[in-house]
Amino acid sequence: MCGIIGYVGRRAALPIMMDGLRRLEYRGYDSSGVALVKPEKVTVIKSAGRLSVLEGGLDYDTNLETQGIGHTRWATHGAPTDINAHPHTDSSGKIAIIHNGIIENNRALRTYLEQKGVTFQSDTDTEVLAQLIGQLYDGDLEQAVRLALREVSGTYGIAVVCADEPDLIIAARKGSPLIVGVGQGEHILASDAAAILAHTTQVVYISDNEMARITPDNLRITTLEAIPVAKETEEIEWSLDQIELAGYEHFMLKEIYEQPESLENCLSGRIDLAEGMVHLGGLADCARELARAKRIIVTGCGTAWHAGLVGEYLFEELLRVPTETEYASEFRYRNPVIDDGTIVIAVSQSGETADTQAAIREAKQRGALVLGVVNVVGSTIPRETDAGVYLHVGPEIGVASTKAFTGQVTVLALIASYLGRRKHLSPTAAAQFIKALSEIPDQIRATLQHASTAKQVAQQYANRENWLYLGRGYNYPVALEGALKLKEISYIHAEGLPAAEMKHGPIALITDGMPVVCIATSGTQYNKILSNMSEVRARGGSVIAIATEGDRDIQDVADHVLYVPDTIEPLQPLLTVIPLQLIAYHAAVMRGCNVDKPRNLAKSVTVE
Ligand code: G6P
Repeated sequence: MCGIIGYVGRRAALPIMMDGLRRLEYRGYDSSGVALVKPEKVTVIKSAGRLSVLEGGLDYDTNLETQGIGHTRWATHGAPTDINAHPHTDSSGKIAIIHNGIIENNRALRTYLEQKGVTFQSDTDTEVLAQLIGQLYDGDLEQAVRLALREVSGTYGIAVVCADEPDLIIAARKGSPLIVGVGQGEHILASDAAAILAHTTQVVYISDNEMARITPDNLRITTLEAIPVAKETEEIEWSLDQIELAGYEHFMLKEIYEQPESLENCLSGRIDLAEGMVHLGGLADCARELARAKRIIVTGCGTAWHAGLVGEYLFEELLRVPTETEYASEFRYRNPVIDDGTIVIAVSQSGETADTQAAIREAKQRGALVLGVVNVVGSTIPRETDAGVYLHVGPEIGVASTKAFTGQVTVLALIASYLGRRKHLSPTAAAQFIKALSEIPDQIRATLQHASTAKQVAQQYANRENWLYLGRGYNYPVALEGALKLKEISYIHAEGLPAAEMKHGPIALITDGMPVVCIATSGTQYNKILSNMSEVRARGGSVIAIATEGDRDIQDVADHVLYVPDTIEPLQPLLTVIPLQLIAYHAAVMRGCNVDKPRNLAKSVTVE
């Protein structure tokens, strides 16, 4: 969603901000803008559309100001027009603000300000905040922002500048991430580490209900009530090459190919093959309580929810603990039953998804122990949960989640095995499970060797507007994930189903040549899915099977077969999802879609 960048230092701010905004593009946006601060004046340049449109209106040779703020906007209040793009200014034109989040009481504040004679230029909630700060400004920007935020309800990550106070950015956060990169005689504010990494790996995370007073040489954090907060400078563990294309055409493809290595990183130091043990430092303090859990609720959104569904199967099988996977957006509003002994596991790549955060708050309020399974270190969810396990799969830039999914499933498998050993799992069974898990990275490498088959399939069917994905057991969530990937980036309508459900309606959709992807790897339900495949073929559908290497029989009931190595059923999703990611990727490329920036989507959905 929206992206924030701000610079105060001694270098020209504009190129630094534009580079930062480019690195935030992946989050999804529909307009962008910058404000440059000169004494007496703030210059705002903004436009709807891609950053290239904004770039057309910039002059790097003359705009040499050493302070500015920049923004990519994903429209919520008001259409994605030039006027509604950020930054917004107050009526004096001296104060400019950029904002991520939603000011919920903006209507009441707008009416109040209009009664005081303020005229608004845009439809946005952000301009309301700009005007409010302007009304309260009395020569002290920090104080004006502080007073304004007292009147505001909703969520925000903001950066504010004022022409009368050059070399100063005031930032504040409630529910929308902000970090400050610490350089030599400069500070870079951003909503995401990706925008900072080219300049520094030293960062300070701003927490909810905190404000930052940022000058070239000084960073002071206080609470909204002006109480000073001592902050450590932390090191970002990501490197610049991880957020660059490195010769790949798209981030999604790069991230698909990174999976062997990203899962090696995820497993590193966590499995002990000799002892058959899993070590998860993040859970050590609550391991006993977790092992006593009587019920588990896994929650998340989108791909994270699909990974959670695999987790549900894993937990019930390895722990014998009743588990449900719930959409965070439903969980948060539906008065969920949380008894003593219920634990909630929130799964999220970004650690910022608004619905998942709200679900966590709801669960905590009802007394549940809440774990986070998150990729982005320092994001909001790990701060709000009682304990957790990071994915450590590196930054995911492609909007369509790939390596985060396999990372999430891997971490859930680690948790299942970690707790399983404290319950019903025998040392032998645990050792076998962990050994199989340790082989997954190499098995993904082997799967990627067959990438050309996935490309051929995608090319043959990329013009079909309707696809079905069928799976059973552990591969049912993979069917959902495969369909989601295709929808997200190629805009093809696709449905994922438990294979047996096809007969209860969707079979009516099957027409001649309709692509039906069937995940038919070896296992308890192999023969069942073979029957489903025959049913598809009998109606003229084209069967694209994902099968276990060595299975030649399947060629009799499939039009195409994509092979994956053999592994135990609970870990099959880590392999079967790979060809589905590749099919979606190549179909999108064939259709000329913008793979890394699909229309209407955001990488991190920070609003409801
Ligand atoms: C968005 C992204 C999805 C992602 C979902 C949950 O919709 O486009 O790829 O799965 O949010 O995000 P999270 O960061 O919580 O995993």
